[in-house]
Amino acid sequence: MPVAVHVVDHPLIADSLTRVRDVATPNALFRQELERIGNLLIAEATKGLATHAVKVQTPLVETLGRQLTTQPVVVPVLRAGLGFLHAAQELLPNADVGFIGVARDENTHMPKPYVNKLPENLAGRQVIVLDPMLATGGSLAHTCDLLIERGVTGTIIVVCVLAAPEGIELLREHGLDLAVYTASLDERLNENAFIVPGLGDAGDRQFGSPA
Ligand code: PRP
Repeated sequence: MPVAVHVVDHPLIADSLTRVRDVATPNALFRQELERIGNLLIAEATKGLATHAVKVQTPLVETLGRQLTTQPVVVPVLRAGLGFLHAAQELLPNADVGFIGVARDENTHMPKPYVNKLPENLAGRQVIVLDPMLATGGSLAHTCDLLIERGVTGTIIVVCVLAAPEGIELLREHGLDLAVYTASLDERLNENAFIVPGLGDAGDRQFGSPA
């Protein structure tokens, strides 16, 4: 099963990405820029959603329009994924939202789950996972396993700011069917499994350090 990586090339994404990478960017501006990137990435990631024809009465005549055939389910991965949620709800106001909480263990880098608040039955639903960082891929693999347990079939859409090649490889080995939309495929992970050049900790840069 494939993991397709789409690096979205857009001047506004590139411009915002430079500010989110910048260590001098304060948290308030970081959140704004993240949301801007989220908006543009989600617009691109949803290009393939199915629509069907509907009649619409304009003030002048009846004509044909198109409507989304099914509403997707948006799943932000706590905490950092919350930074994309507002953008997703602006673009998909009728989407359901499920929440996954997973923290990466600082020493082992393995995912430690702490929230699973997904709709009971996801069969036939298009899921869009929001998580700005795809580093080792462990958090995303865990999230996708939970989605598949709830009945998801077919390609899961993933929206992230940065992806590391090591994480993409792990997801491929995990046998997942994913379409990853990212602002950048970065160089590598460092010895602490942080993305390089990266942007630091996307959760802490939005919400401060929990410690
Ligand atoms: C970060 C990030 C991803 C995860 C990526 O979350 O937001 O969820 O790590 O790493 P991985 O691909 O190696 O699993 P973190 O655990 O720091 O939690 P936070 O969002 O609460 O800061």
